[in-house]
Amino acid sequence: MRRLLSGLYHPWYLHRTSCKYQYKGKERNMAVTQFESVDARRCFPCWDEPAFKAKFKLTLEVPSELVALSNMPVGNATFAGPIKTVRYLESPPMSTYLVAIVVGLFEYVEGMTTKGTRVRVYTQIGKSNQGKFALDVGVKSLNLYKDYFDTPFPLPKLDMVAIPDFAAGAMENYGLVTYREVALLFDDKSSSASSRQSVAITVAHELAHQWFGNLVTMEWWTHLWLNEGFATWVSHLAVDSFFPQWNIWTQFLDSTTTALRLDSLEASHPIEVEIHHASEVDQIFDAISYDKGASVIRMLQSYLGAERFQKAMASYMKKYAFSNAKTEDLWAVLEKETGEPVKDLMTTWTKQKGYPVINAKIKGDDIEIEQAQFLLDGSSGSGMWIVPITSGCGAYDTQKKFLLKLKRDKMVIGSQCGDRKKGGNFWTKLNINGTGFYRVKYDDELAAALQNALETKKLSLMDKIGTVDDLYALSIARQQTFASLLRLLYGYRGEADYSVLSHINTVTTSIAKVSADATPALAGDIKQLLIKILLSPAEKLGWDPKKGESHLDVMLRPLLLTALVQLGHGKTINEGVRRFNIFTRDRGTSLLPPDTRKAAYLAVMQNVSSSNRSGYDALRKIYKESAEGEERLQVLGILSSCRDKGIVLESLNLIFTNEVRNQDAYILLRGIQPEAREISWNWLKENWERISRTFSGSLAANFVKNIVPLFTSNEKAAEISKFFATRTKPGFERTLKQSLETVRISARWAEGIRSEPGLSQTVRELLAKP
Ligand code: BES
Ligand code: ZN
Repeated sequence: MRRLLSGLYHPWYLHRTSCKYQYKGKERNMAVTQFESVDARRCFPCWDEPAFKAKFKLTLEVPSELVALSNMPVGNATFAGPIKTVRYLESPPMSTYLVAIVVGLFEYVEGMTTKGTRVRVYTQIGKSNQGKFALDVGVKSLNLYKDYFDTPFPLPKLDMVAIPDFAAGAMENYGLVTYREVALLFDDKSSSASSRQSVAITVAHELAHQWFGNLVTMEWWTHLWLNEGFATWVSHLAVDSFFPQWNIWTQFLDSTTTALRLDSLEASHPIEVEIHHASEVDQIFDAISYDKGASVIRMLQSYLGAERFQKAMASYMKKYAFSNAKTEDLWAVLEKETGEPVKDLMTTWTKQKGYPVINAKIKGDDIEIEQAQFLLDGSSGSGMWIVPITSGCGAYDTQKKFLLKLKRDKMVIGSQCGDRKKGGNFWTKLNINGTGFYRVKYDDELAAALQNALETKKLSLMDKIGTVDDLYALSIARQQTFASLLRLLYGYRGEADYSVLSHINTVTTSIAKVSADATPALAGDIKQLLIKILLSPAEKLGWDPKKGESHLDVMLRPLLLTALVQLGHGKTINEGVRRFNIFTRDRGTSLLPPDTRKAAYLAVMQNVSSSNRSGYDALRKIYKESAEGEERLQVLGILSSCRDKGIVLESLNLIFTNEVRNQDAYILLRGIQPEAREISWNWLKENWERISRTFSGSLAANFVKNIVPLFTSNEKAAEISKFFATRTKPGFERTLKQSLETVRISARWAEGIRSEPGLSQTVRELLAKP
């Protein structure tokens, strides 16, 4: 859900004032707390820092007819007319940011763990059926984590509550976990496969915090990544065990590549950040804490081995239960349990920002490797890491592992990587399955061999992803040509895997954008080439779901259809519009199930304009009238995805009406297309006062993050930077810096593409291939 949110959060008091819902046609209020990071102090006097744990014994006076929940079960309740006094049992020692209260009208479904912990999912009246899926995942997660950490869940009950208006995606309060409705509820009829998956991940994530975070808590916010990185990592472990067919570890590479992208900016920050003031905390709930954090844990686990790692985690949990720990405390336990140099190794990854690119060159029977900090702006930083290198060589069963501690080293490969003669089967790949947090740049011979291994289907799904993502980044940094990226991409035509294609889609979207600016004359042909790569898997799947098809195919279909619509593929757009027209007449039609709706909406948005707005009006009507949270958000996500200026403006202005909750504004902003960047930027400038007043720093950052990086020129970067010079706001400076850096990097990339010799010939050559 962080991907869903990609931004940050309201303080709880703001969110409390707006937590309204409907019951029997009347508007009702709900009381909900959200204390992380530093808002418990607004509710009661306390030492509001994670290391001051205390036992809490709460009493609430609330209207008698309402359900009143807190971290612990009710000890007793007494009634005095319209008011009841509810006394809760005393909690074990816990940090203040995990205290929670929820008061409102609810119903629930209930289950039980193997150890007899009562688990409930609370929803609005009439929706409890939609809580069953989360309940099942919740019960299974508690069972799994108890075994994984070899430590029982210490509270007598666990409640999970769907909150109609909630700033974060979900919050792990001890024994009382709160969620946005879309992050907890799942309805077989109206929800999509990707929403099933994100509910599972979110529940597994928050329940992991019941151990990692709540039982053992970070000593200080500098170690926030321990909470969030670990919960992110272990939620994948849990979901993989419940739904092995989802290939969730392959999908995890989304997190790794997201983090690699952010961490190759000068304006990135180390995993462990110094925090001097409460106002700095909210900013670090970002891809570095979550995704880089989770990725370096995966790197460490794969270096130490799953079993040794789990054992050590269990002893860490026991040693620090009901207490606090620092990053170093974790390394110390792991080091003691495994005898490996964990502290030295991991410190290089958590205390300095960035990561290395490994330059690999073949020399006789050796591969020479050299590390250098990778930055997307083409420069090379001074960082040095201890890098767990893995390599596959001609086959996956001849893997090698070693620790690169120096700037340079070499690996002996001998003849085991295959026959190096022309036409031979030689290949080698470093960073097998992307377990390491680094990139690899190969010399020409190794790169050609790797492309050959790709085309002859020798590479694992994860290695296909790593291969394209590395070359993509190297191309942006102008360490590899744009043509070589296109050639490699072409090797992926015919690919049928969801995760691989989802990464290909990230790359193609970015290529389409940069080429429109860099080589307008060639942009049309490049789009055709990208369509050629994606079309055959899309045609195989078609628009209609097939009986018994896999979860991943169900997710792949909308991914490909959306990509084709965005690339302007006429046939897909027409079919989307046709299906949408039927759907507006018959909302129950089987022609547009929840999974493919967004692609059809997007197709409609390609053709609408201020003078031809019937499709747009139909979408607005769905947004207004639909009772399904997911459907509403899907529409919101495309209302700004349009070339027509009038329509884009009309959609953006919805942000200031009560049609769009402040918490959802980023969803609308995310849809803005490069074609609408100028109009959106002008809109942002004109409305900045208002945005700044209405949205907290971290939420205001979403406006910057979704508009600024659409530009690709240094002049624009200068203009934007000038505009904000007098308009800074705490909580969003870092995002602004990162966004501006991204614009400058794109400008440099575009310039490189513009002056690349032979590019048009490569494009034509690839287009002409059968
Ligand atoms: N602890 C966070 C919620 C949070 C984030 C509170 C920022 C205060 C500030 C929670 O565990 C979390 O990470 N929630 C994610 C969802 C999760 C599945 C990644 C979210 O809210 O997006
Ligand atoms: Zn979390």
